[in-house]
Amino acid sequence: MSALGQPRVHYRVIGSTNARARELAAAGVPHGTVVTAAEQSAGRGRQGRTWSAPAGRALLCSVVVRDPPSLLPLAAGVAVAEVAGADAQLKWPNDVLVGGRKVAGILVEGRPQEGWAVVGIGLNVAVRLPDFPPELRATAGTLGLEPDAVEPTLDAVLARLEDWLVADAAAVVAAVRARDALLGRSVRWAGGRGVGAGIDERGRLVVETDSGLVQLDAGEVHLQPGAAPA
Ligand code: BTN
Repeated sequence: MSALGQPRVHYRVIGSTNARARELAAAGVPHGTVVTAAEQSAGRGRQGRTWSAPAGRALLCSVVVRDPPSLLPLAAGVAVAEVAGADAQLKWPNDVLVGGRKVAGILVEGRPQEGWAVVGIGLNVAVRLPDFPPELRATAGTLGLEPDAVEPTLDAVLARLEDWLVADAAAVVAAVRARDALLGRSVRWAGGRGVGAGIDERGRLVVETDSGLVQLDAGEVHLQPGAAPA
């Protein structure tokens, strides 16, 4: 059994497991404390977005990590991708895709100066495609399992995360490269567009643009639909 997940606090409904885990982290709970919920009323996504999932059909969890490694967002993505399957890919920095559809999102928040972070994971374990709001039906995905798979999936995610938290940065980068969904694909971001050219040793996304290679270390990158240039 994983050392992560002890203690564990579970809610039938909560606003956001990340918000609760942050409160607990600031109050001093130990490394590995996990907050889970069957349902969130104010789930938070990256870039200020919301995150929604039907009750009992998704893994909604937040893990308190003390002394977080520098590549924590990438390490968490690798851990979740391994649970999602051998074919799961990572859309930098840590969206998990299966068959090109996003099955999991990860929101890492923290207070580096206080030495902690919270890893929030939303994984669509048993969400059915009609459950997604219309605007997500073309891009969201699911593992296609039953609701009774949510608990074993939590156990598997925590076990994989425990290993990746202590992996060295080179191993994390290698694992991300092996699942890089953006490699050779047309991408755009707030500052430009180009073709994904890999992940550098610092975990940054490298993009080939008309004016040369650019390294992105934060923010949101969008895959251009269709185009996969030669
Ligand atoms: C993303 O935008 O891709 C990240 C989504 C992260 C969602 C999870 S669900 C559990 C945890 N609690 C939250 O409020 N957000 C994260």
